[in-house]
Amino acid sequence: MDSSQLELSDFGKKLTSRSGILRLMDDLGRPLPSGVESYPLGGGNPARIEEVEQSYRTQMEALLADGDAFEDVVSHYDAPQGRMSFVEAVADFLASRYGWHVTAENVAVTNGSQSAMFYLFNLFSGRFGSVRKTVLFPLMPEYVGYADQGIEPGTFVSIPSRCTYLDEHTFKYMIDFDALEAYLSTHSEVGAMCVSRPTNPSGNVITDKELSRLSFLADGYGIPLIIDNAYGLPFPDIVFTDDATPFWNENVVLSMSLSKIGLPALRTGIVVADARIVSALANLNAIVSLASGSLGQALAERLIRSGELLHLAQDAVHPFYLRKAGLVQSYIREFFDGTEYRYHRIEGSIFCWLYLPRLDMPTSRFYEVLKADGVVTVPGEYSFFGHPDQLSGLPYPHEHYDKCLRLNYSGPDEKVREGIRILAARYREHIRR
Ligand SMILES: Cc1ncc(COP(=O)(O)O)c(C=O)c1O
Repeated sequence: MDSSQLELSDFGKKLTSRSGILRLMDDLGRPLPSGVESYPLGGGNPARIEEVEQSYRTQMEALLADGDAFEDVVSHYDAPQGRMSFVEAVADFLASRYGWHVTAENVAVTNGSQSAMFYLFNLFSGRFGSVRKTVLFPLMPEYVGYADQGIEPGTFVSIPSRCTYLDEHTFKYMIDFDALEAYLSTHSEVGAMCVSRPTNPSGNVITDKELSRLSFLADGYGIPLIIDNAYGLPFPDIVFTDDATPFWNENVVLSMSLSKIGLPALRTGIVVADARIVSALANLNAIVSLASGSLGQALAERLIRSGELLHLAQDAVHPFYLRKAGLVQSYIREFFDGTEYRYHRIEGSIFCWLYLPRLDMPTSRFYEVLKADGVVTVPGEYSFFGHPDQLSGLPYPHEHYDKCLRLNYSGPDEKVREGIRILAARYREHIRR
């Protein structure tokens, strides 16, 4: 090998590029220069919530106190589909609580839902013999962590969201169903549709009615509807609207996660899907990972069976973030007063999506200005992907493309407040006259 140059395959080049998600995770793990106080409004780290932590601690203590139960968990691999007692606990819970026709055959566990999404996208898009199939995202902007997950370039396509301005300072994205239906009727190569619900980055929550319509469309075209439920129902329940309920049917691939209910480090993603998809995921998991980590599954199993995880979601996680969502809005209204600004109505997730229409530079540059002051955010550009214009270097055709920042509001109140104060002060210096 030439010592000056590392030659990589197309696969390698695609997956080692300077992706948006890499930049974001780098920000999480890398300290700012010394002397710069940090206001971490970037990344996707959830908050520490005492009641949730206490429950996992109790589970861990019980595991340690119970003979060699702990050694039993950590000393062998589980099946590639998951820890079977956990898989059954999830299936029983969903079937008994929501009446879904789900058994253990419909549940697979992955090392975090991020890897579940990678598996799913590449099962349903890419080369199918001579056809190149795509994954369609019906509501752009979408989660930055998807943008580079397709192995085949150009296999992600999207429909720009419509935007309804609600009052002087808030707006809401809506699925443009006319554009979506027109697209589906003229693109037989679409292999799956995917939405995050609640949506990262905007905090939008697709309503039951919209979801039924998406599901109906997916059924009609014989393609799965992938719903990324990382912030959703029944847990972690970071949903603040009352027109959203847990949703699944045989044509839906529901991705869930224990990350936003206390266990991001234990990498536990859960997929509920048709048995053939679950089997494909298990086989893929065997090749990529052998098996998924067991500890998160072991700690959550009894909490799911007893209903305690659901209660933690409803009584601890939900109110925690509802309060935080209220606070971040009050900080924004206080510090941005007198400027032109808007934010997406916070309907769920741990993010506030701030639109700065008069910013005199793209948010990817403004992000650097803020970072120099210790305020770490996520610039919006990475969350707009899947438009053919972008293949020729043009920006995504959405008026919000380079004017939005994603703010994680789950940090300590004072840090969030001060971060927003600095952000507003810098915006005032960078208003296009
Ligand atoms: C929408 C969405 N999906 C998936 C993930 C991945 O989560 P994890 O791999 O920790 O389950 C995240 C993480 O922030 C997310 O925001």
